[in-house]
Amino acid sequence: MSELTGKRVLVTGSARGIGRAIAALAIERGARVVISDADADAAEQTRRELDAAGTASCDVSDEAAVGAAIAETVGLLGGLDVLVNNAGIEVSSPLVTQSTESFDRIFAVNVRGPFVATKAAVPHLVESGGNIVNIASVAGLGGSPLLGSYCATKAALIQLTRVAAIELRASGVRVNAVCPGFVDTEMVDRLRPDFEDATQVPFADLVGAKQGRLGTPADVAEVTCFLASDRAEWITGSHYVLDGGLTASLV
Ligand SMILES: NC(=O)c1ccc[n+]([C@@H]2O[C@H](COP(=O)([O-])OP(=O)(O)OC[C@H]3O[C@@H](n4cnc5c(N)ncnc54)[C@H](O)[C@@H]3O)[C@@H](O)[C@H]2O)c1
Repeated sequence: MSELTGKRVLVTGSARGIGRAIAALAIERGARVVISDADADAAEQTRRELDAAGTASCDVSDEAAVGAAIAETVGLLGGLDVLVNNAGIEVSSPLVTQSTESFDRIFAVNVRGPFVATKAAVPHLVESGGNIVNIASVAGLGGSPLLGSYCATKAALIQLTRVAAIELRASGVRVNAVCPGFVDTEMVDRLRPDFEDATQVPFADLVGAKQGRLGTPADVAEVTCFLASDRAEWITGSHYVLDGGLTASLV
């Protein structure tokens, strides 16, 4: 029996990138997975490619749409064991020149999204003895030029993880976070030119020096699926760093 056999899983932002890899590995390990993304067409294509159980798409910043997607997932799967709050966006800008609208938008997606999804999912997770994995970032643990608002959202997500874990412990619902370094997805493709401008170092050299190599979506999926499984039964309120030593290094 695989470690996620029979688990009913919803992954937000799973049409591509890290979310897609989490959905793919969960399916491989026996879970029934619903794909959800703001890009509903891409979500449907991913569902077909992965032979996932269904789609329930939403923009995670829209509380009503998130509630509907979770209700749809529960209808499709007959309950919910795991919520992966993966959907997130980046903004590349010096803090003092970033617009307030863009600051509000990144908080709406990266912080309000997991908050409203957690609220909607918890009654179902209490019923199943399930758990939540929040995809945070090493950007929630240290600062980076150009990523001020992104760093703030990921620090907020780590704190939401901790407090939700404490408040939900008695109900049997676990809540954990994963903090990857740079991972090879379209998000990093978009950030690459701005980082090269800001540091005057080729991105590949920066990544090679600081984390050995780029992470893969599969690296993140591995830890996420472990945390979602019953093997992680005593782990809650934690954040797992996967960064090839990036945050361990002073030079
Ligand atoms: N790539 C990295 O280096 C890296 C590192 C650490 C953490 N993360 C985090 O991992 C998560 C996934 O990142 P990725 O690199 O796969 O990004 P990506 O941009 O490659 O893919 C993100 C997916 O989320 C969807 N999405 C965006 N906004 C959404 C919204 N409002 N509602 C629902 N879906 C939405 C997109 O359509 C896309 O399919 C994010 O939370 C990101 O912050 C990424």
